[in-house]
Amino acid sequence: MTGNKAVAYKGPGKVELIDIDYPTFELKDGPGVNPANVGRQVRHGVILKTVATNICGSDQHMVRGRTTAPADLVLGHEITGEVVEVGPDVEFIKVGDICSVPFNIACGRCRNCKERKTGICLNVNPDRPGSAYGYVDMGGWVGGQANYVLVPYADWNLLKFPDKDQALEKIMDLAMLSDIFPTGYHGAVSAGVGVGSTVYIAGAGPVGLAAATSAQLLGAAVVIVGDMNTDRLARARGFGCETVDLSKGGPVEQIEQLIGVPEVDCAVDAVGFEAKGHGAGAQEAPATVLNSLMEVTAAGGALGIPGLYVTGDPGGVDEAARKGSLSLSLGTGWAKSLSFTTGQCPVMKYNRQLMMAILHDKVHIAQNVNAKAIALEDAPKGYAEFDAGAATKYVLNPNGYLS
Ligand SMILES: NC(=O)c1ccc[n+]([C@@H]2O[C@H](COP(=O)([O-])OP(=O)(O)OC[C@H]3O[C@@H](n4cnc5c(N)ncnc54)[C@H](O)[C@@H]3O)[C@@H](O)[C@H]2O)c1
Ligand SMILES: [Zn+2]
Ligand SMILES: [Zn+2]
Repeated sequence: MTGNKAVAYKGPGKVELIDIDYPTFELKDGPGVNPANVGRQVRHGVILKTVATNICGSDQHMVRGRTTAPADLVLGHEITGEVVEVGPDVEFIKVGDICSVPFNIACGRCRNCKERKTGICLNVNPDRPGSAYGYVDMGGWVGGQANYVLVPYADWNLLKFPDKDQALEKIMDLAMLSDIFPTGYHGAVSAGVGVGSTVYIAGAGPVGLAAATSAQLLGAAVVIVGDMNTDRLARARGFGCETVDLSKGGPVEQIEQLIGVPEVDCAVDAVGFEAKGHGAGAQEAPATVLNSLMEVTAAGGALGIPGLYVTGDPGGVDEAARKGSLSLSLGTGWAKSLSFTTGQCPVMKYNRQLMMAILHDKVHIAQNVNAKAIALEDAPKGYAEFDAGAATKYVLNPNGYLS
């Protein structure tokens, strides 16, 4: 039997490489696995040899101990891989195909999937709508920061790259299709970005930079990115964005200095519930981004909110935050008739078109987010550096495909 090494969450601040079983077409019990999923037959699945598997800000919420993730949960929802085995019910995907895996697991059969709302599939997580690989409360599907991973409903879920050699040439860009590029794009689209829009994006992490890249693709007149991390802001300026440094105060005045008016047409929250307050030395204040986006968005505008919010947070700043309740100035948003789009990005809605933009050199997402390949063994170091705010998107290279 082939060995399978994987990155596991061990406890707050700690990830480690562990040995796990090579996947089979039947779900086994394990850390975080929903009991109702144990024994489930996955004849529609494939086994992938991992080509690239990225570390995400969403993983960091778990690794910082800010969720109820159990020890030994195998991490990894951003997966690109080569098919090495197909289940008996797989019709179209073949051994040897190199594919991007949307981080949402979706059945393709339920009413939400039929409406392309694959982030809230009803059939893959017994606890609630929506599922993902290697994530707490998402059904217990084993994560892909490993040599091998099982992907269910393969004909439906997988995006096959048209040409293997071309795919390997652009693999660092294509590796962003499993999550952050579609997620950033969804943030921009749901904020209503179009030709000539003025856009503010809170957060210059990989998702914020992907949203900024997407806003440019969509024709925005000006894209302003806010963060308190100066290296990440420099990254955003590197591909033509304006920036605001939130360690100097809130975004409104700085935006007015940049574009002459204190408001934008469209805004994106690429931060989520671990948001810090504005100003020098500000502490965590989870409603900061949502409240400032309502303030800065022009009446009639929209907020794209890919930033993650939780229903329980053991490390929350107060009792309300520990239950996922935030102190929102909803009246501001209501008075301005703002629209909000929250939730998991339905990756499948966008990944093919973004793949085409990459393959035809219309966008350089890997460069914009500073994607960097590291060995699977170096995952603990990658997690630590990313947590410390490195302006880098770490891509694990478990099987040596990435040069
Ligand atoms: N909806 C989805 O499908 C989806 C998919 C992927 C990631 N996410 C979420 O998107 C968020 C961003 O992901 P990431 O990988 O870029 O994470 P990240 O942690 O690398 O980036 C977050 C950035 O926000 C900055 N920040 C903190 N407070 C801020 C504030 N008040 N204003 C502006 N910036 C502030 C931080 O300095 C950091 O640079 C996370 O919450 C992640 O869980 C959601
Ligand atoms: Zn992710
Ligand atoms: Zn479904």
